[in-house]
Amino acid sequence: MRGASPDTHDVLVVGGGAAGLMCAITAGQRGRRVCVVEHANRVGKKILMSGGGRCNFTNTGTTPANYLSANPHFCKSALARYTPWQFIEMVERHRIAYHEKELGQLFCDVSSKLIVRMLLDECQAAGVQVETACSIEQVVHDDDGGFTLRTTRGAFTAPSLVVASGGLSIPSMGATGFGYELAQRFGHAVLPTRAGLVPLTLSGKHLDRMEGLSGVALPVTASCNGQAFSNAMLVTHRGVSGPSILQVSSYWQPGDALHLDLLPGRDALDWLQAQQRERPAAELKTVLAEVMPKRFAQRLCEVWLPGAATPRPLRQYNLPQLRAIASVLAQWPLVASGTEGYRTAEVTLGGVDTDGLSSSTMASRHVPGLYFIGEVVDVTGWLGGYNFQWAWASGHAAGLAV
Ligand code: FDA
Repeated sequence: MRGASPDTHDVLVVGGGAAGLMCAITAGQRGRRVCVVEHANRVGKKILMSGGGRCNFTNTGTTPANYLSANPHFCKSALARYTPWQFIEMVERHRIAYHEKELGQLFCDVSSKLIVRMLLDECQAAGVQVETACSIEQVVHDDDGGFTLRTTRGAFTAPSLVVASGGLSIPSMGATGFGYELAQRFGHAVLPTRAGLVPLTLSGKHLDRMEGLSGVALPVTASCNGQAFSNAMLVTHRGVSGPSILQVSSYWQPGDALHLDLLPGRDALDWLQAQQRERPAAELKTVLAEVMPKRFAQRLCEVWLPGAATPRPLRQYNLPQLRAIASVLAQWPLVASGTEGYRTAEVTLGGVDTDGLSSSTMASRHVPGLYFIGEVVDVTGWLGGYNFQWAWASGHAAGLAV
């Protein structure tokens, strides 16, 4: 516990996650006296749990098109001024081994702990003070325009306050609505938030039809509201997950149509006709089981594919029947009832409206000295390292301005 007079800094950063630490490093390197206030007992908890413990720390193919936001142009400036290659340069300088998994996604070879270690080492080199287990009791906007944080570890004051408190996903990891509440208090609009990159749930007959398939995975192309993602789908106890579903979940809202192409990369009718020509005596479920898991192929025939429940050889299907089957295989309707919510979501969609922020500095247009960065802002990336790249880039942009 510190004495009565506040600890004075140039910059206070609320939240020691990806965005907050990057902002602190950038500002500290410019000679600014920075203090990071983190309420959890350690910084970077989401970094630690990310990418299955190996942190998918960036994506080499990052473009603004990989982000959802009410203003799709907002992210452009920050992303252009801090590219994946700049973060990779830091990773290489710290001799952290990494590899590309797929689609430009870079992961640590060993552990995400190395990324947190790197960020803390950079903080130390830049003279950044990091306060953990430090809960904010009050945010005061001082008469001189500065900010004072009254915390369980004393008071901290500075002319600049950067809000990097993240979104609502995984509350057990320290996620709070702090940033949204603070934004509203200072006159910022906050766009409705919802869970993104999240498994979808099924209910009623839609869930019953999947009974016993939990654990089955297959490649699909999942489409919703004009976006399509080709990758694996995984059947869970409650519904569906896997990368293609997580991606499309960010574009889905209850009631929206969601379709899966179960033969991605193939024309379903051409493929069925070729099978019929080449193997007229084979059953549909047998040929399908060669391109998808057997249990799933069997269930498709029993429940979804018209006229396929009773076993019969392919030669007995006429063209209209094959067409009807092809159309289900190419556009399998998935009727989701909801999502698993913030408990398992990787990100929070929506957040602090970018209309109230400068896209080059992340500064508030309403309150001088106030900044919002990272996930708390209404910019949400796809699965695959894009969210960390936004955290680094927006943190860097603010770090250059504070
Ligand atoms: P972040 O959540 O990282 O940090 C916010 C910090 O603020 C936290 O440390 C929190 O404790 C603190 N805080 C909150 N309220 C506070 C308060 N009132 N006072 C003080 N501190 C407060 N992305 C990606 O690109 N690649 C990946 O591999 C993954 N993997 C992944 C896995 C899982 C399980 C999840 C949940 C998420 C991912 N993500 C991801 C998403 C990524 O983790 C996320 O987008 C970034 O961490 C966002 O960075 P921020 O710094 O904005 O928030």
